[in-house]
Amino acid sequence: MNIYSRPWGTISSGETATLFTLVNDNGMTVEITDFGGTIVSIKTADRNGKLTDICLGYDSLSDYEKADGYLGALVGRVANRIAGASFELEGKTYSLYANDGGNCLHGGKKSFSYVIWKSETATDNDKATLTLTYFSPDGEEGFPGNLTTKVTYTLDNGGALAIRYEAECDKACPLNLTNHAYFNLAGNASGPVFGQILWLDAESYLAGDKDLIPVAVKPVDGTPFDFTEPKPIGKDFFVDFADLRMAGGYDHCFNFTGWKKCKSGGTLLLRAVACDPISGRKMEMYTNQPCVQFYSANFLKNPCFPLRGGKPQQTQTAFCLETQTMPDSIHHQGDESFTDGVLRAGEKYDYTTVYKFSAE
Ligand code: GLA
Repeated sequence: MNIYSRPWGTISSGETATLFTLVNDNGMTVEITDFGGTIVSIKTADRNGKLTDICLGYDSLSDYEKADGYLGALVGRVANRIAGASFELEGKTYSLYANDGGNCLHGGKKSFSYVIWKSETATDNDKATLTLTYFSPDGEEGFPGNLTTKVTYTLDNGGALAIRYEAECDKACPLNLTNHAYFNLAGNASGPVFGQILWLDAESYLAGDKDLIPVAVKPVDGTPFDFTEPKPIGKDFFVDFADLRMAGGYDHCFNFTGWKKCKSGGTLLLRAVACDPISGRKMEMYTNQPCVQFYSANFLKNPCFPLRGGKPQQTQTAFCLETQTMPDSIHHQGDESFTDGVLRAGEKYDYTTVYKFSAE
Protein backbone atom coordinates (compact mmCIF):
# COMPACT_ATOMS: atom_id res chain seq x y z
CA MET A 1 0.00 0.00 0.00
CA ASN A 2 1.26 3.47 -0.79
CA ILE A 3 0.24 7.12 -0.61
CA TYR A 4 1.94 9.84 -2.62
CA SER A 5 1.17 13.53 -2.50
CA ARG A 6 2.00 16.50 -4.66
CA PRO A 7 1.05 20.18 -4.80
CA TRP A 8 -1.90 20.58 -7.14
CA GLY A 9 -2.14 24.33 -7.61
CA THR A 10 -3.54 27.35 -5.86
CA ILE A 11 -7.16 28.39 -5.39
CA SER A 12 -8.37 31.99 -5.58
CA SER A 13 -7.93 32.51 -1.80
CA GLY A 14 -4.18 31.86 -2.29
CA GLU A 15 -4.29 28.51 -0.49
CA THR A 16 -2.47 25.58 -2.04
CA ALA A 17 -4.25 22.32 -2.75
CA THR A 18 -2.60 18.90 -2.53
CA LEU A 19 -3.39 15.85 -4.63
CA PHE A 20 -3.04 12.52 -2.82
CA THR A 21 -2.66 9.22 -4.66
CA LEU A 22 -3.60 6.05 -2.78
CA VAL A 23 -2.40 2.83 -4.42
CA ASN A 24 -3.06 -0.74 -3.34
CA ASP A 25 -0.93 -3.82 -4.04
CA ASN A 26 -3.05 -4.68 -7.09
CA GLY A 27 -2.52 -1.31 -8.73
CA MET A 28 -5.95 0.10 -7.91
CA THR A 29 -5.42 3.85 -7.60
CA VAL A 30 -7.54 6.56 -6.03
CA GLU A 31 -6.71 10.26 -6.34
CA ILE A 32 -8.19 12.62 -3.76
CA THR A 33 -7.54 16.32 -3.26
CA ASP A 34 -7.88 18.22 0.00
CA PHE A 35 -9.86 20.84 -1.98
CA GLY A 36 -13.42 19.81 -1.14
CA GLY A 37 -12.09 16.40 -0.08
CA THR A 38 -12.79 15.56 -3.69
CA ILE A 39 -12.24 12.13 -5.24
CA VAL A 40 -10.56 13.06 -8.53
CA SER A 41 -10.16 9.59 -10.03
CA ILE A 42 -10.55 5.88 -9.26
CA LYS A 43 -8.68 3.46 -11.48
CA THR A 44 -9.91 -0.12 -11.19
CA ALA A 45 -9.27 -3.28 -13.22
CA ASP A 46 -11.72 -4.87 -15.63
CA ARG A 47 -11.99 -8.66 -15.97
CA ASN A 48 -8.77 -8.69 -18.05
CA GLY A 49 -6.86 -6.66 -15.49
CA LYS A 50 -6.97 -3.43 -17.54
CA LEU A 51 -7.06 -0.35 -15.30
CA THR A 52 -9.53 2.41 -16.27
CA ASP A 53 -10.66 5.54 -14.49
CA ILE A 54 -14.29 4.92 -13.52
CA CYS A 55 -14.91 8.20 -11.68
CA LEU A 56 -15.76 11.36 -13.59
CA GLY A 57 -13.62 14.41 -13.00
CA TYR A 58 -11.93 17.46 -14.48
CA ASP A 59 -8.32 17.95 -15.56
CA SER A 60 -7.49 20.94 -13.38
CA LEU A 61 -7.99 22.31 -9.90
CA SER A 62 -9.34 25.52 -11.38
CA ASP A 63 -12.20 23.59 -13.02
CA TYR A 64 -13.05 22.04 -9.65
CA GLU A 65 -13.09 25.51 -8.11
CA LYS A 66 -15.35 27.08 -10.77
CA ALA A 67 -17.62 24.28 -11.91
CA ASP A 68 -20.92 23.10 -10.50
CA GLY A 69 -21.95 19.46 -10.40
CA TYR A 70 -19.96 18.56 -7.25
CA LEU A 71 -17.94 15.92 -9.11
CA GLY A 72 -16.42 13.62 -6.48
CA ALA A 73 -16.79 16.24 -3.74
CA LEU A 74 -17.54 15.88 -0.06
CA VAL A 75 -20.89 17.54 0.52
CA GLY A 76 -21.97 19.34 3.71
CA ARG A 77 -23.22 20.62 6.00
CA VAL A 78 -26.41 19.38 4.40
CA ALA A 79 -26.45 17.33 1.22
CA ASN A 80 -29.25 18.02 -1.26
CA ARG A 81 -31.91 20.70 -0.88
CA ILE A 82 -33.30 22.65 2.04
CA ALA A 83 -36.56 24.15 0.82
CA GLY A 84 -36.80 27.93 0.89
CA ALA A 85 -33.15 28.16 2.07
CA SER A 86 -34.30 28.51 5.67
CA PHE A 87 -35.37 26.39 8.59
CA GLU A 88 -36.43 26.57 12.20
CA LEU A 89 -34.73 24.61 14.93
CA GLU A 90 -35.37 24.82 18.65
CA GLY A 91 -37.43 27.98 18.21
CA LYS A 92 -34.92 29.92 16.08
CA THR A 93 -35.06 30.67 12.37
CA TYR A 94 -31.93 30.23 10.26
CA SER A 95 -31.38 31.69 6.78
CA LEU A 96 -29.13 29.96 4.29
CA TYR A 97 -27.67 30.84 0.91
CA ALA A 98 -30.11 30.09 -1.92
CA ASN A 99 -28.04 28.58 -4.75
CA ASP A 100 -30.71 26.46 -6.44
CA GLY A 101 -33.68 28.66 -7.27
CA GLY A 102 -35.02 29.67 -3.86
CA ASN A 103 -33.53 26.61 -2.18
CA CYS A 104 -30.19 25.80 -0.58
CA LEU A 105 -28.37 22.97 -2.38
CA HIS A 106 -25.48 20.93 -0.96
CA GLY A 107 -24.65 23.25 1.92
CA GLY A 108 -24.76 26.67 0.25
CA LYS A 109 -22.17 28.87 -1.42
CA LYS A 110 -18.74 27.53 -0.39
CA SER A 111 -20.11 24.65 1.64
CA PHE A 112 -17.70 21.78 2.35
CA SER A 113 -17.05 21.17 -1.33
CA TYR A 114 -15.10 24.36 -2.11
CA VAL A 115 -12.78 24.65 0.90
CA ILE A 116 -9.38 23.16 1.70
CA TRP A 117 -9.50 20.46 4.37
CA LYS A 118 -6.61 19.67 6.76
CA SER A 119 -4.98 16.39 5.85
CA GLU A 120 -3.01 13.53 7.39
CA THR A 121 -1.90 10.27 5.80
CA ALA A 122 -0.96 6.81 7.07
CA THR A 123 -0.27 3.38 5.58
CA ASP A 124 0.12 -0.17 6.85
CA ASN A 125 0.41 -3.56 5.12
CA ASP A 126 -3.20 -3.63 4.05
CA LYS A 127 -4.48 -0.03 4.11
CA ALA A 128 -3.75 3.48 2.94
CA THR A 129 -5.58 6.19 4.85
CA LEU A 130 -6.18 9.86 4.18
CA THR A 131 -7.82 11.72 7.06
CA LEU A 132 -9.39 15.09 6.32
CA THR A 133 -10.74 17.50 8.91
CA TYR A 134 -12.66 20.73 8.60
CA PHE A 135 -13.79 23.13 11.29
CA SER A 136 -16.94 25.06 10.43
CA PRO A 137 -17.55 27.93 12.88
CA ASP A 138 -20.95 28.82 14.34
CA GLY A 139 -22.94 30.70 11.70
CA GLU A 140 -20.91 29.60 8.69
CA GLU A 141 -23.24 29.47 5.67
CA GLY A 142 -26.02 30.37 8.14
CA PHE A 143 -25.88 27.09 10.07
CA PRO A 144 -25.81 26.98 13.90
CA GLY A 145 -22.97 25.61 16.03
CA ASN A 146 -19.23 25.09 15.91
CA LEU A 147 -18.93 21.89 13.92
CA THR A 148 -15.86 19.68 13.63
CA THR A 149 -15.95 17.17 10.81
CA LYS A 150 -13.52 14.36 10.13
CA VAL A 151 -13.67 12.30 6.95
CA THR A 152 -11.42 9.26 6.63
CA TYR A 153 -10.78 7.74 3.23
CA THR A 154 -9.29 4.22 3.39
CA LEU A 155 -8.22 2.11 0.44
CA ASP A 156 -7.44 -1.55 1.11
CA ASN A 157 -5.99 -4.50 -0.78
CA GLY A 158 -9.46 -6.00 -1.23
CA GLY A 159 -10.45 -3.16 -3.59
CA ALA A 160 -12.58 -1.32 -1.04
CA LEU A 161 -12.64 2.45 -0.71
CA ALA A 162 -14.23 3.31 2.65
CA ILE A 163 -15.40 6.79 3.58
CA ARG A 164 -16.08 7.38 7.26
CA TYR A 165 -17.79 10.62 8.27
CA GLU A 166 -17.51 11.73 11.91
CA ALA A 167 -18.71 15.01 13.38
CA GLU A 168 -19.53 16.82 16.59
CA CYS A 169 -21.25 20.16 17.09
CA ASP A 170 -21.81 22.35 20.17
CA LYS A 171 -25.39 23.24 19.14
CA ALA A 172 -28.18 21.34 17.43
CA CYS A 173 -27.56 21.55 13.67
CA PRO A 174 -28.95 19.76 10.63
CA LEU A 175 -26.17 17.56 9.24
CA ASN A 176 -26.15 15.30 6.20
CA LEU A 177 -22.69 14.47 4.87
CA THR A 178 -22.03 12.54 1.70
CA ASN A 179 -19.71 12.15 -1.26
CA HIS A 180 -20.83 13.06 -4.75
CA ALA A 181 -18.69 10.71 -6.90
CA TYR A 182 -20.03 10.12 -10.42
CA PHE A 183 -19.37 6.50 -11.41
CA ASN A 184 -19.25 5.00 -14.86
CA LEU A 185 -17.97 1.44 -14.58
CA ALA A 186 -17.06 1.44 -18.27
CA GLY A 187 -14.84 4.51 -17.81
CA ASN A 188 -14.88 8.30 -17.45
CA ALA A 189 -16.90 9.86 -20.32
CA SER A 190 -17.41 6.52 -22.08
CA GLY A 191 -21.08 7.14 -22.89
CA PRO A 192 -24.43 6.60 -21.13
CA VAL A 193 -24.70 4.15 -18.24
CA PHE A 194 -28.07 2.77 -19.40
CA GLY A 195 -26.62 -0.75 -19.88
CA GLN A 196 -25.05 -0.92 -16.42
CA ILE A 197 -26.99 -3.09 -13.99
CA LEU A 198 -28.09 -1.78 -10.62
CA TRP A 199 -29.52 -3.46 -7.56
CA LEU A 200 -30.74 -1.24 -4.72
CA ASP A 201 -32.04 -2.60 -1.44
CA ALA A 202 -34.62 0.20 -1.23
CA GLU A 203 -38.27 -0.24 -0.26
CA SER A 204 -39.44 3.32 -0.91
CA TYR A 205 -38.44 6.62 -2.51
CA LEU A 206 -39.19 10.29 -2.02
CA ALA A 207 -41.28 11.81 -4.77
CA GLY A 208 -40.36 15.43 -5.40
CA ASP A 209 -41.99 18.60 -6.70
CA LYS A 210 -40.74 20.53 -9.73
CA ASP A 211 -37.80 21.90 -7.67
CA LEU A 212 -36.95 18.38 -6.49
CA ILE A 213 -38.09 19.07 -2.94
CA PRO A 214 -39.44 15.83 -1.43
CA VAL A 215 -43.20 15.83 -1.00
CA ALA A 216 -44.17 12.20 -0.35
CA VAL A 217 -42.74 8.81 0.63
CA LYS A 218 -43.89 6.16 -1.87
CA PRO A 219 -43.25 2.41 -2.17
CA VAL A 220 -41.01 1.40 -5.09
CA ASP A 221 -43.14 -1.66 -5.79
CA GLY A 222 -44.50 -1.69 -9.35
CA THR A 223 -42.74 1.57 -10.33
CA PRO A 224 -39.60 2.43 -12.38
CA PHE A 225 -38.01 3.07 -8.95
CA ASP A 226 -38.01 -0.64 -8.13
CA PHE A 227 -34.38 -1.86 -8.25
CA THR A 228 -34.93 -4.69 -5.75
CA GLU A 229 -34.25 -7.08 -8.64
CA PRO A 230 -31.10 -6.06 -10.56
CA LYS A 231 -31.96 -4.25 -13.81
CA PRO A 232 -30.21 -2.03 -16.35
CA ILE A 233 -30.33 1.63 -15.32
CA GLY A 234 -31.90 2.40 -18.70
CA LYS A 235 -34.62 -0.26 -18.51
CA ASP A 236 -37.37 1.99 -17.16
CA PHE A 237 -35.58 5.30 -17.63
CA PHE A 238 -37.93 6.64 -20.33
CA VAL A 239 -41.18 5.28 -18.90
CA ASP A 240 -43.94 7.89 -18.75
CA PHE A 241 -44.15 7.96 -14.98
CA ALA A 242 -44.75 11.38 -13.42
CA ASP A 243 -42.25 11.16 -10.52
CA LEU A 244 -39.51 10.12 -12.92
CA ARG A 245 -40.32 12.64 -15.68
CA MET A 246 -40.58 15.48 -13.13
CA ALA A 247 -36.87 15.04 -12.31
CA GLY A 248 -35.75 14.30 -15.88
CA GLY A 249 -34.58 10.86 -14.75
CA TYR A 250 -33.44 9.41 -11.45
CA ASP A 251 -32.64 12.11 -8.90
CA HIS A 252 -34.42 10.76 -5.86
CA CYS A 253 -33.78 9.67 -2.33
CA PHE A 254 -34.20 5.89 -2.05
CA ASN A 255 -34.95 4.58 1.45
CA PHE A 256 -33.29 1.30 2.30
CA THR A 257 -35.31 -1.68 3.47
CA GLY A 258 -35.79 -1.32 7.23
CA TRP A 259 -34.20 2.16 7.11
CA LYS A 260 -35.73 3.19 10.44
CA LYS A 261 -33.30 0.87 12.22
CA CYS A 262 -30.23 2.49 10.61
CA LYS A 263 -28.32 4.75 12.92
CA SER A 264 -25.05 6.57 13.45
CA GLY A 265 -22.40 4.03 14.43
CA GLY A 266 -24.60 1.14 13.24
CA THR A 267 -23.59 -1.97 11.29
CA LEU A 268 -22.74 -1.59 7.60
CA LEU A 269 -25.08 -3.47 5.25
CA LEU A 270 -24.80 -4.29 1.56
CA ARG A 271 -27.30 -1.87 0.00
CA ALA A 272 -26.33 -1.53 -3.66
CA VAL A 273 -24.50 -3.45 -6.36
CA ALA A 274 -23.71 -2.01 -9.78
CA CYS A 275 -21.99 -3.82 -12.60
CA ASP A 276 -20.98 -3.29 -16.18
CA PRO A 277 -21.58 -6.48 -18.18
CA ILE A 278 -19.08 -5.43 -20.87
CA SER A 279 -15.97 -4.75 -18.76
CA GLY A 280 -17.08 -7.06 -15.92
CA ARG A 281 -16.46 -4.30 -13.37
CA LYS A 282 -18.58 -4.51 -10.26
CA MET A 283 -19.11 -2.08 -7.38
CA GLU A 284 -20.71 -3.12 -4.11
CA MET A 285 -21.86 -0.44 -1.71
CA TYR A 286 -22.05 -1.04 2.05
CA THR A 287 -23.35 1.60 4.43
CA ASN A 288 -25.03 2.28 7.75
CA GLN A 289 -26.89 5.27 6.31
CA PRO A 290 -30.68 4.90 5.95
CA CYS A 291 -30.95 6.29 2.39
CA VAL A 292 -29.17 6.99 -0.86
CA GLN A 293 -29.73 9.70 -3.47
CA PHE A 294 -29.56 7.83 -6.75
CA TYR A 295 -28.81 10.48 -9.36
CA SER A 296 -28.46 9.66 -13.06
CA ALA A 297 -26.46 12.83 -13.86
CA ASN A 298 -29.39 14.61 -15.48
CA PHE A 299 -27.72 18.02 -15.16
CA LEU A 300 -24.36 16.86 -16.47
CA LYS A 301 -24.33 19.08 -19.55
CA ASN A 302 -22.34 22.21 -18.69
CA PRO A 303 -20.43 23.07 -21.91
CA CYS A 304 -17.91 25.29 -20.05
CA PHE A 305 -16.34 22.45 -18.10
CA PRO A 306 -15.27 19.48 -20.21
CA LEU A 307 -14.45 16.30 -18.34
CA ARG A 308 -10.97 14.83 -18.05
CA GLY A 309 -9.25 14.50 -21.38
CA GLY A 310 -11.39 17.28 -22.90
CA LYS A 311 -14.48 15.08 -23.19
CA PRO A 312 -17.76 17.03 -23.25
CA GLN A 313 -20.21 16.61 -20.39
CA GLN A 314 -23.17 14.47 -21.33
CA THR A 315 -26.24 13.59 -19.31
CA GLN A 316 -26.66 10.06 -17.97
CA THR A 317 -23.00 9.15 -18.56
CA ALA A 318 -22.62 8.41 -14.87
CA PHE A 319 -24.57 7.51 -11.77
CA CYS A 320 -24.15 8.82 -8.23
CA LEU A 321 -24.99 6.87 -5.09
CA GLU A 322 -24.93 9.57 -2.42
CA THR A 323 -25.60 7.84 0.90
CA GLN A 324 -27.42 10.13 3.29
CA THR A 325 -30.43 10.87 5.45
CA MET A 326 -33.53 12.24 3.72
CA PRO A 327 -33.20 15.58 1.93
CA ASP A 328 -35.09 18.47 3.53
CA SER A 329 -35.84 16.37 6.61
CA ILE A 330 -35.34 19.54 8.67
CA HIS A 331 -38.81 20.53 7.41
CA HIS A 332 -40.30 17.24 8.59
CA GLN A 333 -39.23 17.36 12.25
CA GLY A 334 -41.34 14.98 14.29
CA ASP A 335 -42.68 13.23 11.17
CA GLU A 336 -42.07 9.48 11.70
CA SER A 337 -41.99 8.81 7.96
CA PHE A 338 -38.84 10.98 7.65
CA THR A 339 -35.31 10.63 9.05
CA ASP A 340 -34.33 12.99 11.85
CA GLY A 341 -31.25 14.61 10.26
CA VAL A 342 -30.28 16.78 13.25
CA LEU A 343 -27.00 16.38 15.14
CA ARG A 344 -27.40 17.60 18.72
CA ALA A 345 -24.76 18.92 21.12
CA GLY A 346 -23.01 16.01 22.84
CA GLU A 347 -23.96 13.50 20.10
CA LYS A 348 -21.49 11.83 17.76
CA TYR A 349 -22.21 11.62 14.04
CA ASP A 350 -20.54 8.49 12.67
CA TYR A 351 -21.52 7.07 9.29
CA THR A 352 -19.50 4.99 6.86
CA THR A 353 -19.96 4.06 3.22
CA VAL A 354 -17.76 1.53 1.44
CA TYR A 355 -17.53 1.25 -2.34
CA LYS A 356 -15.88 -2.10 -3.09
CA PHE A 357 -14.60 -2.76 -6.60
CA SER A 358 -13.95 -6.07 -8.32
CA ALA A 359 -14.37 -7.64 -11.75
CA GLU A 360 -15.91 -10.89 -12.90
C1 GLA B 1 -27.66 16.08 -6.43
C2 GLA B 1 -29.02 16.63 -6.70
C3 GLA B 1 -29.16 16.91 -8.14
C4 GLA B 1 -28.07 17.85 -8.62
C5 GLA B 1 -26.72 17.28 -8.29
C6 GLA B 1 -25.60 18.23 -8.60
O1 GLA B 1 -27.54 14.78 -6.81
O2 GLA B 1 -30.05 15.81 -6.24
O3 GLA B 1 -30.41 17.46 -8.39
O4 GLA B 1 -28.20 19.10 -8.01
O5 GLA B 1 -26.65 16.95 -6.95
O6 GLA B 1 -25.62 18.67 -9.92
